[in-house]
Amino acid sequence: MSDTFQAIELRAVSKTFVLHAQGGVRLPVVKNATFAAPRAACTVLAGASGSGKSSILKMIYGSYRCDDGQILVTAGGERVDIALASPARILKLRASTLGYVSQFLRVIPRIGAPDIVTAAAREGGLNGMDARERASLLLTRLNIPERLWSVPPATFSGGEQQRVNIARGFAAPHAVLLLDEPTASLDAENRAVVVQLISEAKAGGAAILGVFHDDDVRHQAADHIVNVAAFSDPGAP
Ligand SMILES: Nc1ncnc2c1ncn2[C@@H]1O[C@H](COP(=O)(O)OP(=O)(O)OP(=O)(O)O)[C@@H](O)[C@H]1O
Ligand SMILES: [Mg+2]
Repeated sequence: MSDTFQAIELRAVSKTFVLHAQGGVRLPVVKNATFAAPRAACTVLAGASGSGKSSILKMIYGSYRCDDGQILVTAGGERVDIALASPARILKLRASTLGYVSQFLRVIPRIGAPDIVTAAAREGGLNGMDARERASLLLTRLNIPERLWSVPPATFSGGEQQRVNIARGFAAPHAVLLLDEPTASLDAENRAVVVQLISEAKAGGAAILGVFHDDDVRHQAADHIVNVAAFSDPGAP
């Protein structure tokens, strides 16, 4: 497998949180994380609660800084080391390449679900009408009833908010898509829709790196599994 086939590549990535409010207590969470995630496949991060899965996704998305190592993201013929990239470069990469779905929707007041999803589709390069159609299609597939489309999602149930969040994450064809427990509060029918969206994104060439607490989804989505336990070494010097 050539290097450039890997859309995401972590080389010896480490992260220690320093808890200033607790007198500078040091919490080593990720140690020497080294793995790659290829295009057109879903790589799953597995490991116990607290083992650092979400922290790894946040470092790749550029929300957390890593202390050491390289985080290489390759897309559109260029390779960026997130560990060294400026905030402006990371924002540009998010618009063009990097998608991220967390468990929680950060709701924008007074904006309805179709506008939230359409904005994400436009940001990812779809034109006006295509973006709106993509948003309607995704909200329909994810069973957000039309009567809710004019209501700001702040009042939505946890599962409804999560589905808007998923629609937003899949609105544009991201080359790299990070999914942090996207199905945690969904029923079986909607979990199946997410599995289908993952397989469509893979068919489009996306590299997906995900954490799935649901065994069914993990088995259906995963092409490769990376066990994060190998990178959590709190006892190490
Ligand atoms: N911003 C932060 N500040 C301090 N500690 C943090 C921070 N983010 C994560 N941690 C700590 O890092 C450890 C790993 O957290 P993380 O959320 O990455 O685990 P996880 O594998 O995703 O767990 P889960 O399966 O429960 O979601 C935890 O002990 C957590 O308390
Ligand atoms: Mg987590």
